[in-house]
Amino acid sequence: MKTNSDYKGFIFDLDGVLVSTEHNHFLAWQKTADMLGIDFSEEENENLKGVSRVDSLKYILNLGNAVLSSEEFNNLLDFKNESYLDSIQNLTQQNCLNGVVETLSKAKARGIKLGVGSSSKNAKRILKLIEIEDYFDTVIDGSMVENLKPSPEVFLKAASNLGLETSECLVFEDAASGIQAAKAGGFLAIGIGNENIKHLADHYYNDLTEFTF
Ligand code: BG6
Ligand code: MG
Repeated sequence: MKTNSDYKGFIFDLDGVLVSTEHNHFLAWQKTADMLGIDFSEEENENLKGVSRVDSLKYILNLGNAVLSSEEFNNLLDFKNESYLDSIQNLTQQNCLNGVVETLSKAKARGIKLGVGSSSKNAKRILKLIEIEDYFDTVIDGSMVENLKPSPEVFLKAASNLGLETSECLVFEDAASGIQAAKAGGFLAIGIGNENIKHLADHYYNDLTEFTF
């Protein structure tokens, strides 16, 4: 049986795995939903983890049976993104989740290739803010693929940029859509920090401090 350090590449989701931004996404969506008079709870937000900005807004509109013109739709996308970006402007490396920096440095020291596969179009900006962008050999974000999670495209593109087969990489994810994406791509899926996905993942850790090489 393979051990964790037999893998040649680690591919990480960003929001909820490397950095604690999921609550910021939730609050920004809640503000957006409020403007439409739609109730949006943290339980509902669970379904939006890993889901693109456009599909998230469609999901919220559906909750309230709301129909918008494409101009209104695009304005709300901008509004959500501005509220989100406002709320994360002071992010620092302190906001990395537990064990992240240690795991990245240990992996790097062992010659393991590192990648990010995120649905977020803000991924590169956030990696820069939290000062971990230099660890990664490739970053695939929401603007670089046609199909977002649960499609495996972000992870497949990351593995291909690392020059590795899917069987040589581990994928770390906190969202149901992301675990589905990893499995659809044939990767071993490691669930992190979200008990709701424990049953879907191949292995599960509360955070990266529990992950050993
Ligand atoms: C995912 C988050 O990483 O990115 C989702 O889990 C978010 O909550 C999605 O909606 C898209 O992010 P962004 O930054 O492009 O709006
Ligand atoms: Mg995530």
